[in-house]
Amino acid sequence: MARRDCITRLKEISPAVLPSLLLCDFGNLESEIEKLESAGVAALHLDVMDGVFVPNFTYGMTIVHALRKLTDLPLDVHLMMVHPEKYIAQFYEAGADIITIHAEAVDDPVPVLKSIRELGAGAGIAINPPTPVSEIRNCLASADLVLPMSVNAGFGGQSFDDAALGKLDELRELTDEKTILEIDGGINADTIGAATQHGAELLVAGSAIFKQDDYAEAIANMMAQIECLK
Ligand code: DX5
Ligand code: ZN
Repeated sequence: MARRDCITRLKEISPAVLPSLLLCDFGNLESEIEKLESAGVAALHLDVMDGVFVPNFTYGMTIVHALRKLTDLPLDVHLMMVHPEKYIAQFYEAGADIITIHAEAVDDPVPVLKSIRELGAGAGIAINPPTPVSEIRNCLASADLVLPMSVNAGFGGQSFDDAALGKLDELRELTDEKTILEIDGGINADTIGAATQHGAELLVAGSAIFKQDDYAEAIANMMAQIECLK
């Protein structure tokens, strides 16, 4: 089974909250993963930042590899970096199941998305709030996941930008039913309902989980908001 098949499974159980590990306690990674697994999360979202494409710096493939050894959960790797094409094979080898690149970071995303698929991972394309959906129209057939960011990539803890909601509507019209739509940035109990109503299937949340003592309760609170809008 190709790793990208995890997208089919994630679609079946969607909407799903994916924890962004940006704010987790890296000194206690094992217990952090245990807590998230017992909270029932469906995948982990990993934010790779290079200090060039974004003004923040996080971690690379060694952390992806460390996580791969700790869990069987799908690893959804969000590359906020220039020249992602140079590193996708290494992220795949480290254990990434889904690899998402930013349209703004490359001249032509299509060959990079194709290389990610050829490796066997799910291929994702992300756009920052100022980038219109029209910029990635020609990439959509090569993408398994599309991510209209609801904050400018770079930092956790920012406020949700409503402009992402209109982009989700546009993307649902432009993509086939196999493509999964993700949203990332400022997702919490107040914003998650609108995001799912506009078609987001994977809801990435950092602060709304890791700034709470009880991760399971934080995730359940967000899921309850989705349920009460059904
Ligand atoms: C932002 C990252 C996000 C971020 C989400 O560049 O891609 O995944 O960590 O954090 P919150 O939920 O705090 O906005
Ligand atoms: Zn992210």
